[in-house]
Amino acid sequence: HHDAVTHARQHSPQVVAHRGASEDAPEHTLAAYRKAIEDGADALECDVRLTADGHLVCVHDRRVNRTSNGRGAVSALELAELAALDFGSWKNRDEEPDWEHRPEDREATSVLTLERLLELIADAGRRVELAVETKHPTRWAGQVEERLLHLLKRFGLDSPATAQESPVRVMSFSARSLHRMRAASPTLPTVYLMQFVSPRLRDGRLPAGVRIAGPSIRIVRNHPAYVERLKRAGHQVHVWTVNEPEDVDLCVELGIDAIITNRPRAVLHQLGR
Ligand code: G3P
Ligand code: CA
Repeated sequence: HHDAVTHARQHSPQVVAHRGASEDAPEHTLAAYRKAIEDGADALECDVRLTADGHLVCVHDRRVNRTSNGRGAVSALELAELAALDFGSWKNRDEEPDWEHRPEDREATSVLTLERLLELIADAGRRVELAVETKHPTRWAGQVEERLLHLLKRFGLDSPATAQESPVRVMSFSARSLHRMRAASPTLPTVYLMQFVSPRLRDGRLPAGVRIAGPSIRIVRNHPAYVERLKRAGHQVHVWTVNEPEDVDLCVELGIDAIITNRPRAVLHQLGR
């Protein structure tokens, strides 16, 4: 029986909560990540950006306009200014939200620092992995990576014994950003995100030193043979953002290693977990 369970595990993709349980709760908030952990997600995905005063915060867009009641670029605002904003009220309130919104818990929907997210994970009471995506405005030239390593170090996560054991991985559309991370910490796993397949990499190779490919679900749908090539080249494949049941089936069929989704509970259910 034990072997059967292990076997099933090996062939069931990891379920990664994209921006937290972001279908139910406002993306990149403590509320969304708490919900993802409750839902049983294996890992959490977050985007990180630097504030004007050098803090890493979890925000997807360059500006805060879409996901808060404020305006302006994250990089032009200080953490204290961001902390005065509400990152929850933009989310559709017409429907009954699937998370408990307690207005008295301001922290649940205020700006989330990566530090606070790492604390949440440390307190989860079970293994919860983290896939951090560096958003990388060129003006910061390496500072995002430097701050990220510094913060990971404080949590003892910056230099795992082996990549396989690492609970943290760094993802980016920028090969240069990943290169910087690997140069500083060779055992920290890196994921090369792809929105399209560049002709240079069509044969299934990845930028030097990268072991994990992060194609969009659109690439996977349109070019399943490319996924086979990546796997044959010995790479893991992590796919984003997989919200449709047919796409979950396709990922299982193709032996995808991680499914990044806004709906971790629904995907886990579909996988029989
Ligand atoms: O997980 C990768 C995916 O999040 C990349 O796209 O725009 O959602 O950050 P985006
Ligand atoms: Ca992302």
